Amino acid sequence: MRSLLLIGIGPGDPDALTLGAVRAMRRADVFFFLEKADAGRDALIDVRRRLLAAHAGDRPYRVVSGRTPARDRAAEDYADAVADWRDRRTRVIGDLIDRDLMPGETGGVLIWGDPGLYDGTLQSVQDLIAEGRGDLRVEVVPGIASPQALAARHRVPLNRVGESLTVTTGRLIGSADPDTVTNHLVMLDGRHAYRHLTGYDLDIHWGADLGTPDEVLIAGPLDAVADRIGATLDAKRAAKGWVMDSYLLRKRREGP
Ligand SMILES: C[S@@+](CC[C@H](N)C(=O)[O-])C[C@H]1O[C@@H](n2cnc3c(N)ncnc32)[C@H](O)[C@@H]1O
Repeated sequence: MRSLLLIGIGPGDPDALTLGAVRAMRRADVFFFLEKADAGRDALIDVRRRLLAAHAGDRPYRVVSGRTPARDRAAEDYADAVADWRDRRTRVIGDLIDRDLMPGETGGVLIWGDPGLYDGTLQSVQDLIAEGRGDLRVEVVPGIASPQALAARHRVPLNRVGESLTVTTGRLIGSADPDTVTNHLVMLDGRHAYRHLTGYDLDIHWGADLGTPDEVLIAGPLDAVADRIGATLDAKRAAKGWVMDSYLLRKRREGP
């Protein structure tokens, strides 16, 4: 039997690590690092290395790295491009597990935020088990997800009383009917999708690089702050090549 722990590490603040994550880190014999194809993102690998150094305990463990493929962002068919990228990433994870996780051992993957929210690793591992790795057991250790960090930093609840919360992506909100946007948490927006939603009495709570020394928070009427958010995103991308941002869009309503 081999075990694999998918450990949620929170969205950037080392203090957002749970006690469960620390305990799980101390169980693993080998950690798998899935490095992005774009070198700038290695900063996120450094965060993981620091967490391991601080919490994995004073004992021997191995670290093995695999380079995850880049997605074809120019592809005409988005769904096909994502499926192809996911498949290639699954192969990388499978090769690491087959080569470096020995019978009786426990492996660990440190997952940004929570493993259950916009992260494909769990599905990849389930696919690898279904393919015939019947000796592999996967365990998920939840982490604090970026929407929770956003709400906490802005000191707002994620939902208002009696309302639902929709968690969605920049791609989907960009093509949504603005009149249907009431209480939407947007992640994975590389295209300034919020700009399409000005003029509809929406408020925004926006956060970039939450929980890190580079954190920026902006809140207010979307029409008033959209340009400032855009300029901040452009400046961050120009400075380090990438940025992680999320935002809560709310239809303004009278009263509490
Ligand atoms: C691939 S998803 C991973 C989400 C992660 N599993 C979670 O639970 O938050 C990456 C997206 O999460 C959001 N995100 C992650 N960390 C963030 C942070 N520190 N600040 C702002 N947004 C963050 C961004 O929308 C980013 O595009």
